[in-house]
Amino acid sequence: MRARPGRALVVRAPGRVNLIGEHTDYNEGFVLPAAISLEIRIAFLPTDDRRVELTLQATGERVLIDLDAIGPRTETWIDYVAGTAWALAEAGIPTRGFRGLLASTLPTSAGLSSSAALELASFWALTGGTDGGTDGMTRARLCLRAENAYVGANVGLMDQFACSLGVPGAALFLDCRTLEWRPIAIPLESHALVVCHTGSARRLVASEYNARRAQCEAAVAVLAETDPSIRALRDVTSEMLPAVRARVDDETYRRCEHVVRENERVLRTMAALEAGDLAAVGRLFAESHASLRDLYEVSSPELDALVEIGASTPGVVGARMTGAGFGGCTINLVARDAVDALRAAVGRDYPARTGLTARVFVVEPAAGAGLVDA
Ligand code: GLA
Repeated sequence: MRARPGRALVVRAPGRVNLIGEHTDYNEGFVLPAAISLEIRIAFLPTDDRRVELTLQATGERVLIDLDAIGPRTETWIDYVAGTAWALAEAGIPTRGFRGLLASTLPTSAGLSSSAALELASFWALTGGTDGGTDGMTRARLCLRAENAYVGANVGLMDQFACSLGVPGAALFLDCRTLEWRPIAIPLESHALVVCHTGSARRLVASEYNARRAQCEAAVAVLAETDPSIRALRDVTSEMLPAVRARVDDETYRRCEHVVRENERVLRTMAALEAGDLAAVGRLFAESHASLRDLYEVSSPELDALVEIGASTPGVVGARMTGAGFGGCTINLVARDAVDALRAAVGRDYPARTGLTARVFVVEPAAGAGLVDA
């Protein structure tokens, strides 16, 4: 059947940064991400022929998906589109074919959730630019299902959540157990969110990510033997850490200590933001980064260099790695009048320390994925 084109539509989906709460989501803990103004857009014509034809503006590469015969994964970016179509079908949500063009300002493999953004943008295109009768949390969970069950990445909900439910001007607190969430104000009149991209390829991220997650789950299995109320590391407090130390090997203990204290840091960061205590926010960012570097062991020399450059620049409130780690980006909360100084310091000191060039993005907290008004 020939395609019967409808009206051309545009959908968008943002990337995200995480302010704090790293590797806590899959431990049923707390996170504080923000959707950002770097984003993916798909311009498309809905069709009635059950075929998706999507062209990448950057390269001209074109993918074809038959919505009635979604194949196995291909280990390429197509999987995020096909996986979302698969998850929608599995949930009984009607999908449509389309002819589309994908443009992006969001760097890939940078720890800024280009995968979740592609899933959410695909969701909106596959439903013909509608919400498919779902709310934002349901869309996030369907896209997570695509990533876990089709793409095969055992990630938590944070990225899809932030990408789906972003609020302009705010960070988003999420309790990953109850799925309760609320926007948290950031002092954006005076301060900016600055992302520094290491320019280094992320190494071993999938295997190391899965290994960390398995260590957390193994620790919970041991702790639950004597205390069945412990269902996830979320249920462990810092007062309980000495007892944990006695039960697990040293490396597993370090992973647990990171997660337990990181959950507490998320709550303290929210309280500090709400009280306007930015010095405390800066200390919590520094503690979080040190813990990811030394206890969870997911940082890299390049991330450490960017964090040290940020932390030693006057006007930078806080600096830490963001996302899964092993390369990617740092997030910096910076007085607006110090952004140029940070840019200059990164331009001057980072190449000397690493032989690489970093990219610096000033980002604004943005709305979640959806249809762009014509
Ligand atoms: C990746 C995953 C998230 C989260 C972070 C680490 O971004 O997709 O679910 O686990 O790593 O905080």
